[in-house]
Amino acid sequence: MIPGADAAGAAAPTVVPLAAWRRAHGIAPPIRAARPEESAALTTLCLRAKASLGVSEDLMRLWVPVLTLPAEAIAAGRVLVAAETALLGVAAHGPPVDGLAELTLLCVDPAATARGVGTALLGAVVARLRAQGVRRMTILAERGIAGFYRRMGAVPTGFAPSPAIPGRMLPSLLLELR
Ligand SMILES: CC(C)(COP(=O)(O)OP(=O)(O)OC[C@H]1O[C@@H](n2cnc3c(N)ncnc32)[C@H](O)[C@@H]1OP(=O)(O)O)[C@@H](O)C(=O)NCCC(=O)NCCS
Repeated sequence: MIPGADAAGAAAPTVVPLAAWRRAHGIAPPIRAARPEESAALTTLCLRAKASLGVSEDLMRLWVPVLTLPAEAIAAGRVLVAAETALLGVAAHGPPVDGLAELTLLCVDPAATARGVGTALLGAVVARLRAQGVRRMTILAERGIAGFYRRMGAVPTGFAPSPAIPGRMLPSLLLELR
């Protein structure tokens, strides 16, 4: 189980208990619902995360609309952030349909990677979706990132078109929400 996914009742806005994560790392980033006024800062954070993967400036332009969080997703509580004094990372999911939801975005600030922020955010998304009766989540990952989701228990399901770059296929995965 992903740390944090055992959180009971995950109505947003929420702070998810991250007991397992605390045990493993000794410290946990607080997770809460994103605020509307944070939208631009979250897009900037995601662009930094994407650029850290070595994406060229030309291709980065194509990612801007995909990494711009829709106001209705924030208002609906489908965008979660990890934040201390600064924003550390953000995750978002689509509206659930028939027990299935899509992880639409997960970005950790390059300055805050390898501290468990991605794990904590994914765990919070899982807890929120499980509380809504969702049992499976689809994920589209950058090639170098699919390993992170496999590490979290997701199973590769093939490839699907990139939401940003025409003609580019990205690894797709499925995570059973336990
Ligand atoms: C991938 C990402 C979310 C990982 O976040 P993170 O906070 O560094 O991850 P964690 O510290 O929680 O790492 C958890 C585990 O996953 C592993 N991991 C992290 N990144 C990995 C990767 N790219 N491949 C394989 N394993 C990875 C870690 O080593 C760690 O394993 P451990 O528990 O054995 O030590 C982050 O690097 C990121 O945001 N990358 C950019 C992603 C992107 O482009 N997003 C935009 C489109 S949605």
